[in-house]
Amino acid sequence: MNILVSGGTGFIGSHTCVELINAGHDVIVFDNLSNSKENTLDKIETITGKRPKFYLADMRNEDDLEKIFSENSIDAVIHFAGLKAVGESVAMPLEYYKNNICGTLNLLEVMKKHDVKNFIFSSSATVYGKPEFIPITEKCPLGETTNPYGETKKMQERILTDFQKANPDWHIVLLRYFNPIGCHESGIIGEEPNGIPNNLMPYIMQVAAGKLPMLRVTGNDYDTPDGTGVRDYIHVVDLAKGHVAVLKKLADESGVYIYNLGTGKGYSVLDIVHAFEKVNGITIPYQFAERRPGDIAVSYSDPSKAKEELGWVAEYDLDRMCLDAFRFAKNTLTAN
Ligand code: NAD
Ligand code: UFG
Repeated sequence: MNILVSGGTGFIGSHTCVELINAGHDVIVFDNLSNSKENTLDKIETITGKRPKFYLADMRNEDDLEKIFSENSIDAVIHFAGLKAVGESVAMPLEYYKNNICGTLNLLEVMKKHDVKNFIFSSSATVYGKPEFIPITEKCPLGETTNPYGETKKMQERILTDFQKANPDWHIVLLRYFNPIGCHESGIIGEEPNGIPNNLMPYIMQVAAGKLPMLRVTGNDYDTPDGTGVRDYIHVVDLAKGHVAVLKKLADESGVYIYNLGTGKGYSVLDIVHAFEKVNGITIPYQFAERRPGDIAVSYSDPSKAKEELGWVAEYDLDRMCLDAFRFAKNTLTAN
């Protein structure tokens, strides 16, 4: 199939491009490079032997999108493009709503015009807010979000659901990612956030690469076995493969399909630190700090719906996630 990947030079997008190419799909990428680099395309080519066709395009600009759809015959869109930093979204809500919401509206409009009816959306476990039950199934009610970023995910899910109701021949898939970490085993592509990382694994990687002195463990008084927050960390390559599995089902009945993509296992912050130290033979200095506002104690998925309906399960364990993350940190972060 011809797959258009929005945000395809980003962290999850680039790994998904690799898996799409490996599965025999033709990949077209667009990205405005606001949080990624064009040389990611070289890296995808190094790994797969194939270079995705690339458009430097901004989804806020309808003309940019029109050009892509008029020059290509597209079977499905995987929509990764978006701003994703929680703290930044609190400081810059208008930018987040404009980029994530208006961008998605533009994309849907141009798809409708060109009769492209298959849409896979990068949603997030953040839509569950403080979850009503654990492990979280897709039946768990959506919760209160604590920041504009999370709200854009909830709003986009609502927009897509309303849109599909009005256009019942569309096939829309909402993928609720848990916590993607790790990187491709080559160590060539991985997660490189701008500035000081917000998320746990990128922060640990910078400590491991000697760029930051120590990790701050934000909260050790949660109601969890060791007091630190528990999350469902999933290897980004497993997550990428989830998208390939979804594409196999696109010929099925139209509708809105929702899947959790996680491992079903919860690990605490200290579990992650200790696994990273053990498999990589290094020490990650850390100190306990106050809770981050808006954080929840525990979030992990029940991923059985994706297994039953898509035949997809996450395969890589935590040790592998930590090994691959450190390989990328050594290759890339220390070289910058
Ligand atoms: P990322 O920032 O690495 O990738 C997003 C890409 O979108 C970037 O390359 C950026 O340049 C591009 N982009 C942003 N605005 C754009 C615009 N207006 N036009 C064109 N391109 C634009 O992020 P990621 O971690 O790969 O996340 C991909 C998607 O998955 C995002 O929608 C994110 O919200 C979602 N998600 C991520 C996580 C996570 O923990 N990484 C968790 C849940 C959901
Ligand atoms: N943490 C630290 N120190 C840090 C960063 C994080 O101890 O420097 C802790 C947090 O308190 C939390 C755990 O590590 O307990 C995980 O935090 P992350 O920021 O890595 O992940 P979150 O679960 O908070 O959120 C991330 C994204 C959200 C997304 C969610 C689910 O930031 O946007 O995963 O996909 F919605």
